[in-house]
Formats: sequence, structure tokens, C-alpha cells
Amino acid sequence: MDTVLKMLALIISGWFFSVFGHENHYFYPPEVPEHQAKSFLHKRHVNINASPNPAYCIYERYENWCKSHILYCQGQLEHTREQKCATLAPCAPGQHCHLANPCPDRFSLACVDIDECASNPCQNGGTCHNGNNLYTCTCLPGWTGHDCEIDIDECASSPCMYGNDCIEDRINSYVCVCSERYEGVHCERDCRPGPADIMFLLDTSLSQNEVMNRSIEYMTRFVKQIPIGPNDFQVALVSYAFKPELVFNFTAHQSNTSVLDALSLIKSERGPTTTSDALSFVAQEILKPENGARLLPNISHYAVIVTNGLSTDRNQAIQTAQFLKATDSRFKILAVGVGDDIGHEELIQLPTYPFYTFAPDNDDLLMAMLKDAADYGCTDCNSSSVTDVVILFDTSKTTSPLTGNSIHSLKAVDKLLDSFDVTNTDIRAAMMTYGNGSQIKFDFHQRSIHDTKAKIYTASIEDEKGNTSLALSSVQDKLFFGVSTGSRFAARKIVYLFSNGKWSMTEISEIRQEILKLHDAGISVNIMIPVRSLNAEMDNILANASNIAFDPFRVYLIEDNASSVSFALKAAVRDTKYVECPPDIFKAKQ
Ligand SMILES: *[C@@H]1O[C@H](CO)[C@@H](O)[C@H](O)[C@H]1NC(C)=O
Ligand SMILES: *[C@@H]1O[C@H](CO)[C@@H](O)[C@H](O)[C@H]1NC(C)=O
Ligand SMILES: *[C@@H]1O[C@H](CO)[C@@H](O)[C@H](O)[C@H]1NC(C)=O
Ligand SMILES: *[C@@H]1O[C@H](CO)[C@@H](O)[C@H](O)[C@H]1NC(C)=O
Ligand SMILES: *[C@@H]1O[C@H](CO)[C@@H](O)[C@H](O)[C@H]1NC(C)=O
Ligand SMILES: *[C@@H]1O[C@H](CO)[C@@H](O)[C@H](O)[C@H]1NC(C)=O
Ligand SMILES: *[C@@H]1O[C@H](CO)[C@@H](O)[C@H](O)[C@H]1NC(C)=O
Ligand SMILES: *[C@@H]1O[C@H](CO)[C@@H](O)[C@H](O)[C@H]1NC(C)=O
Ligand SMILES: *[C@@H]1O[C@H](CO)[C@@H](O)[C@H](O)[C@H]1NC(C)=O
Repeated sequence: MDTVLKMLALIISGWFFSVFGHENHYFYPPEVPEHQAKSFLHKRHVNINASPNPAYCIYERYENWCKSHILYCQGQLEHTREQKCATLAPCAPGQHCHLANPCPDRFSLACVDIDECASNPCQNGGTCHNGNNLYTCTCLPGWTGHDCEIDIDECASSPCMYGNDCIEDRINSYVCVCSERYEGVHCERDCRPGPADIMFLLDTSLSQNEVMNRSIEYMTRFVKQIPIGPNDFQVALVSYAFKPELVFNFTAHQSNTSVLDALSLIKSERGPTTTSDALSFVAQEILKPENGARLLPNISHYAVIVTNGLSTDRNQAIQTAQFLKATDSRFKILAVGVGDDIGHEELIQLPTYPFYTFAPDNDDLLMAMLKDAADYGCTDCNSSSVTDVVILFDTSKTTSPLTGNSIHSLKAVDKLLDSFDVTNTDIRAAMMTYGNGSQIKFDFHQRSIHDTKAKIYTASIEDEKGNTSLALSSVQDKLFFGVSTGSRFAARKIVYLFSNGKWSMTEISEIRQEILKLHDAGISVNIMIPVRSLNAEMDNILANASNIAFDPFRVYLIEDNASSVSFALKAAVRDTKYVECPPDIFKAKQ
């Protein structure tokens, strides 16, 4: 049985050999590791002096002699023997032939793989992989080609958006060189503010032409600071008193001069102020293509209400505003208070956010809009609350709010301090009381809110008469620009002057002079008048306070009524938070 199997195996192997061996295929000698093949070569220089005849080493009939002088023959006629390798070419492509035995009977051959990687063919740090008669390279990032000889052009795919330049700064990396207008790794953010459609909603029911003049001046100053045109900002105007009316649409005026000319022609009217209808009207008109509105996702839409906040239909106006806020996010409402006296409570409830209510004596509304109208993530315009505020509290018998009203006015200061939220913002607060002289209750250095509040309640009547203008100038000298008071040079500066407003006529003109001086020094003064209730006397006080304020917007009546206090204070702290944009934002961003 065993023998039969062996026979079978022989037959099969014989057949195998006959098919694949002699007749069709040449069988390469086995591949051996290089060190084994070379073990013979290493010995070839062994010098044997007995030298009958080197030729004995290559003739077959001297085979036995060769075997017995193998060390001698190893060193002889190497060249001739090597020719065997050359003529027989016995090895597979990619292999070296070596003579593993020097004797002529069978110069046994060994084949050794050639290390194609030995010549370091992979360039630029690529890793070489030796294969059978070939090599492959694994390239470092940024390179390609068989030998990693090709530097990949990372800019070829135009990774920088809006046609901004791409430069290959290092291997496997590029940088986008964004023009001023764009930001981001791929210049993907268009940071030029706008385009935007702005619809002014102008309350023309103002009692005096002089107020209309201020509204027009406000809009004029605004328009002068933005580029007007079909690819930039477009301005439309709705006026309203009793009935809203589209004065001009978004495309009627396509240049700044044209808009400015149109604004100068507006007339005021007498009559009720129906802000609710006006808001509904704006909601219908602001997005109409037939008014020139551009309904593209990259174009923002704003309604800017210019009013004194004293609507005839106040409750309805607020309701309509709340309804629009809740139902239409396609446009935002901002409000600016222009008038002889200002209904802060209404004004703060009309815009999309309470902090979209603005004073007319600065450009805060414009800055907030520019930030909003730029792409998300652009950093040209930043929000800030770096503000130093001074509470200046009158403690003279004649004009102090403590007179006849003591606790309410100190509570109002307490709530004002809460509204600043000094622990969560960059706002710093100081307090000064004054009669004939002045006294710093606390300066801008931060301390515990508990200590601060305790200091508020130490204020009491000190002198018979006070000197408010003197106190205002000492706020500037002793607090804002005083030595080591914790004030910050670059901070916005605001004074909250608490008084009962019962100044004499000479005082009024003195205080006004001082407030104008402070305004020129970049310091705003808000007049805070705590009142028990509104009465006939209040009209006079309000008129006198509006007279001394830089703008009537900066007068706040603080009623002894929890909910209206919070509206007045919210309005009063509005401009402690603001947006700063570079002055040349449009010029730089062309
Ligand atoms: C507005 O006031 C300025 C100066 O205060 C004056 O020159 C201008 O004529 C006024 N405009 C109107 C429309 O009253
Ligand atoms: C109107 O725009 C032009 C070009 O943008 C500018 O040169 C000019 O100063 C602007 N005029 C006003 C009044 O802002
Ligand atoms: C806008 O107003 C202009 C001038 O009053 C008018 O000619 C135009 O038809 C109106 N509509 C549009 C879409 O421009
Ligand atoms: C706004 O988007 C439109 C279409 O998506 C585009 O053609 C236009 O250039 C964009 N405008 C700006 C200023 O990015
Ligand atoms: C104000 O105080 C100064 C000294 O501090 C004093 O000379 C002056 O008489 C006082 N004036 C009044 C009106 O109290
Ligand atoms: C307030 O003080 C200033 C500066 O000392 C002085 O000129 C002015 O007359 C004073 N006013 C009153 C009402 O005392
Ligand atoms: C306000 O000013 C008027 C003059 O314009 C004056 O008659 C009145 O007494 C002042 N009111 C108060 C409360 O000081
Ligand atoms: C407080 O003010 C609100 C809003 O002005 C008003 O609705 C409310 O009746 C007032 N409450 C009191 C007690 O005066
Ligand atoms: C806004 O903030 C960014 C990043 O902090 C800064 O580079 C930029 O100068 C700031 N812009 C202004 C107007 O402060």
C-alpha cells in the first residue's frame, strides 16, 4: 500500500515536472538570503600558495580536484565563473545571481533579491517599500508621484473664496491672503457690513419743527456714514402721524446725496401718533420687491423707528411690536428717541430687543446695525461694556431727591447699581454725593456688592444749598480723571445725576454749560429724577431737566412704581453696553 502511494506520488511529480519543468518553464534557483549567498564570496580572497593550475578549478574533469582544493578555487578565476551567471542569467528579474559553489560540476547558483530601495529612490522623505523587481514609495503629505517627486499644488483647488489669493507657504499647506473685506481661513466671511435695506419709520406728529429738525439731522448723520447703492445699503422712508405713508421706496434714491435731499424735504404734522398702525404698515412694506426690497439671504432688513415714545395708542403699539417680534424674524426693529421729552417705557418695548433702543446723541444705533449686518464671526465691530459710571447724588436740602422722598430715591440708586450688573460686565461704578462740597462714597475699585450698597444708604441731607455744576466738574476731576480711583482711560464715561430737578434759572444755565463741557470731553450725563407720582409740577421739572440735558433723551423720571422703575432703569443703562467699529470700516473694506 505504502509503495503504491509512493509510486503514485512519483508519477504525479514526474508529470508535473514534465509539464512545468523541462518543456515549458525554466525553474529559477531558489532565492536565498543575501548573507547566505555571500558567505562563499567572503572567503574568496583566502590566499593558498600551492598553485598547481588555476584552470583545474573550471574544467569538469577536475571536479574532484576542485572539491579537494575548494578554498583555493574559491579565490581563482572568479571572473570566468561569474560569467556563468551572466550567460545563464538564471535568476528572476529583480534578483542577483551568486555562485554558491566554485566547482565546475555544478557551479551551484544562488539568487538574491536586489534591494531596489538601496538607492533611496523615494524623494522628499517618502518611505521606500522593496518589492519583487520593484519598489513603491509612500509619500509624506504634500507630495505625490512615483518617487514622491511632485510637490502637490495645494492652491490648485482654489481653496480661497471670493477670488482671494492663495499662496503655498510651506509644503502641504497654503494660506489665503484675504483682502480687507474678507476674513477667515478661507476668506469665507464677507466682513464688509451690509448690504441692508433700512426703512426709517419717522414719527412726524411732533409738536415742534425743531424736533423734526433733530430727527432729520439724526437720519442725515446716519446716512452720511453708510454707502448707499444697489449693492450696498438702501434707504426707504415711511412717515406717520395719524396715517403711515411711504414717502420714498428703497430704489427711489440710489446715492447718498439723493437720500439726503429727500430727507430735507420732510414736513412735520400735528395730530395723534398711531405707532401701532405704522408698525403694521412697515411689516407689510419692508419686504415688498415692488418697493425695491432685496429678498436675498445675505441682505439684512431693518426698520428704524424715530419717535419720542409718546404714542396715542401706546398699549396697542407695544402689542403690535411684540407680535412682530414673535412672528417675523425677517426684519429687525430698532428705535431711537427724538423729542422734547421721551417716553422711555414705550421706547424700550418697541424694538426687537430692549437693547436696540438708542439715544440720538451718539452713533450707537448705527454701530449695532453694522455689527448685525456683517457676517457672523466678523470682528471689526465688537460689543463692549467697558464703561465707567458715576452716580452723582444731590444731598442739598433744596434740590436733593431725598427731600420728602428719601427711601425711594436711594432704592432707585440701589436698583440702578443692580442694572449695571458689575460682576458680569466690564462696567465699573462709583458714587459721589454733593451739597456745597462733594464726597466720594465709593470709587471705581471693585468691592463687595454688599459693602457698596451699604454705602448708598449712608447718603443723607448735608447742606442747605448745593452746587450741581461744581459737583459735575469735580466728577470729572476727582473720579474720571482722578488719581488711583480705578477709572479707565479708554472706558465710556457716563454720569447719572440724581436730583429733584428744582433748580433755579441761574443754576439751570450753569449746569447746562457744565454738561456741554462734559459732553465735549466725551462724558454723557443722564438726569435721574425720582418722583412719587406724575403731577402738574412734573411738567415744569421735566421741561427744565430737558433743558439742561445734552439731549432730552437723557432725562429719566423714576416713578415710585416697581414696573416703571425697571423700564426707566433699563433704558437708562442702555448705553453702558455698546458696539465699537473702526471709523474707516467702509473705506478699508472696499
Ligand atoms: C435745522 O437746524 C439748523 C441749525 O440748527 C438750520 O440751519 C436748519 O435750517 C434747520 N432745518 C429745518 C428743516 O428746520
Ligand atoms: C456720498 O458718497 C460719496 C461716494 O461714496 C462720497 O464721496 C461723499 O462724501 C458722500 N457724501 C456725503 C454727504 O456723505
Ligand atoms: C420706487 O419709487 C420710484 C420713485 O418714486 C418709482 O419710480 C418706482 O417705480 C418705485 N418702485 C421701485 C421698485 O423702484
Ligand atoms: C448676495 O447673494 C447673491 C446670491 O446669492 C450674490 O449674487 C451676491 O453677490 C451676494 N451679495 C453680496 C454683497 O455678497
Ligand atoms: C460752601 O462751602 C465753602 C467752603 O467749603 C464756604 O466758604 C461757602 O460759604 C459755602 N457756601 C454755601 C452757599 O454754603
Ligand atoms: C457753583 O460753583 C461755581 C464754581 O465755584 C460758581 O461759579 C457758581 O457760582 C456756583 N453756583 C452756585 C449756584 O452756587
Ligand atoms: C422751570 O423753569 C421755569 C422757567 O422756564 C420756572 O418758572 C420754573 O420755576 C422751573 N421749575 C422748577 C420746578 O424749578
Ligand atoms: C405702575 O406703572 C405701570 C406702568 O406704567 C402701571 O400700569 C401701573 O398701574 C402702575 N402702578 C401703580 C401702583 O402706580
Ligand atoms: C475686535 O476684536 C478683535 C479680536 O479681539 C480685534 O482684533 C479687533 O481689533 C477689535 N475691533 C475693535 C474695533 O475694537
